Amino acid sequence: MIYFDNSATSLIKPDSVKRIVTRAMNSLTANPGRSGHVFSQKVASAIFETREKLKTFFHAEDYEIVFTKNCTEALNLAIFGCLNAGDHVICTCYEHNSVLRPLRYLRGVGIDTTIVEDDLSSVGENIEKYIKSNTKMIITNCVSNVTGEICDISKVGEICKSHGILYLVDGAQSSGHLDVDIKKCNIDMYAFAGHKGLLSITGVGGLVVKRGLHLKPIIYGGTGTMSENLEQPNDLPEGLEAGTIPSIPIISLGAGIEFLMKNFENIQKIEQKLSKYMLNSLKKLKFLEIYSKEDSLNVFSFNMQGIDSSELANILNDKYDICVRSGLHCAPLVHKKLGTLKRGAVRVSIDFNNTMEEIDYLITALKSIYSKI
Ligand code: ALA
Repeated sequence: MIYFDNSATSLIKPDSVKRIVTRAMNSLTANPGRSGHVFSQKVASAIFETREKLKTFFHAEDYEIVFTKNCTEALNLAIFGCLNAGDHVICTCYEHNSVLRPLRYLRGVGIDTTIVEDDLSSVGENIEKYIKSNTKMIITNCVSNVTGEICDISKVGEICKSHGILYLVDGAQSSGHLDVDIKKCNIDMYAFAGHKGLLSITGVGGLVVKRGLHLKPIIYGGTGTMSENLEQPNDLPEGLEAGTIPSIPIISLGAGIEFLMKNFENIQKIEQKLSKYMLNSLKKLKFLEIYSKEDSLNVFSFNMQGIDSSELANILNDKYDICVRSGLHCAPLVHKKLGTLKRGAVRVSIDFNNTMEEIDYLITALKSIYSKI
């Protein structure tokens, strides 16, 4: 099989991640932060280490790491945790439904949204004009999960800072692929998934939250702290992590980050080279309509003349053993912008484990499929 669905989740995990999961299943299965015994303490310390590694990796020393079960939950936490009736929010049309759907719900309770339709790569230049006196937050993808376009988060962060607006970044597709400097980019909250570019098993995501920012919890319950108090404690991260947290996914994330920190320069070089090669190879096929851009990273979408996107994805899977994702990728408004809301698009998403030979094979498969339409 050739796996080109890394935007959904990374298929190949480093050996160190696999080893630590097995080790954790044998000796790190206690509940951290609740009991004081040695087993609990060992897990708590492994989780603390993962938080510290994440802070280093994201250049976020003055931030807290709040663990969630995935990136969707982290985005919900940021959105519901900060917005109130009367606020205005700006986001881009590239956002995933994990941003668009909470915002649509909040419209019903008096929170107004402006959705910017500029190309993601030029959002930084144009977003300021949408700011109103009640704009509380700007939300942008860092890398689009449909086109792989990159947002100038540094520029948007600068604008947010100058207007005193919160900046929330959806880092689902950038984490582990781009060197994101959260502090330098003036990001207030950055949501990530563990199981994609950060190479953990599924079950963990998180929100990097600027220290001092107060968020309302979206889940209330036991935190292992201030148990006599019936009010939810507002200390971070515990106050926003009620209930038992997913220790083993978090520990696997620690190993994923460690792997990335050792290999990041090389990984970025490989992915940039493969991205260029993918786009140039796709562009040679004149029967394709390509939606990705020159600067797209790892994620490429297209349609083939004369065939539906899901049918093409099925043929790639069934006849050529190539895994891709078709349809709308849970990001309907960017498809509307691209004119693909009805037919969707085929998405190929790579990571450093892919090769140029695999890309060549995809191109051969696409040529062969087109010749038979
Ligand atoms: N959001 C993930 C994707 O784009 C699941 O495939």
